[in-house]
Amino acid sequence: MIDIHSHILPELDDGAGSLQESLEMGQLAVADGIRIMVATPHVISGLYENSRATILTAVAHLKQTFADQGIPLEILPGAEYRLEPDLPQRLCRGELMTINDGGRYLLVELPADLVPNCTGQVFYELQLQGVTPIIAHPERNLVLARRPAQLHYLVRHGALAQITGDSVTGLLGAQAARAAKTFLRQGCVHLLASDAHNSSQRTPTLAASREKAAQLVGQEEATNLVQGNPQRVINSQMVTPGDIKETAHQSPSLLDRLRQYFLK
Ligand SMILES: [Fe+2]
Repeated sequence: MIDIHSHILPELDDGAGSLQESLEMGQLAVADGIRIMVATPHVISGLYENSRATILTAVAHLKQTFADQGIPLEILPGAEYRLEPDLPQRLCRGELMTINDGGRYLLVELPADLVPNCTGQVFYELQLQGVTPIIAHPERNLVLARRPAQLHYLVRHGALAQITGDSVTGLLGAQAARAAKTFLRQGCVHLLASDAHNSSQRTPTLAASREKAAQLVGQEEATNLVQGNPQRVINSQMVTPGDIKETAHQSPSLLDRLRQYFLK
């Protein structure tokens, strides 16, 4: 399997806290059947300002360490960018780290509780430069989780969607699990990744979530989410989005039903 979203580089963000933890994460990934991992440290202005050079240096160091330790896990460079209005300008200046430094796919994270008004425009301007945005864990965004049609809109306009394994297995809460399953049933998911942050709770594992996904979309498509499509992304090849099935719908949570009742 290929994991295209992980925080395995040590001491760059809220992921691996030390080189030792990076090694433990690498061993866990290999034991789970992951053979390639894209390191995607957070880049958030004023919080985690990891540059391309910083990421490339950290990846080279970790690759060497894994080779020295005999851990058969290939590490590729990447980053997870918080959606900010100036992403297209930073891309134009050559400042952004695309997946595998291929200049084709950019992993973009929305804030947890809203979809900024500039989202569509930023995605459009990235695509004008030949870069496809990959929306990191849309199931964990409160707006997209409640209104899948907003995710459909972004995907129909060229974005891809990556859901997190721990959302599918339920480890990240009921709402994320419900939304992840809805998106899977609707054919609106293109990638399944670990978004691993450490070696104890948010671990670099995908096998269990791939099996859960297979119950919803079948083995072939579940495998595509962790092998075929990630391989295309790291090779800078096209990922075909497929048709979104509008008919499937997410049953509203108790909180949503109460909200609807009181807002009548
Ligand atoms: Fe992440």
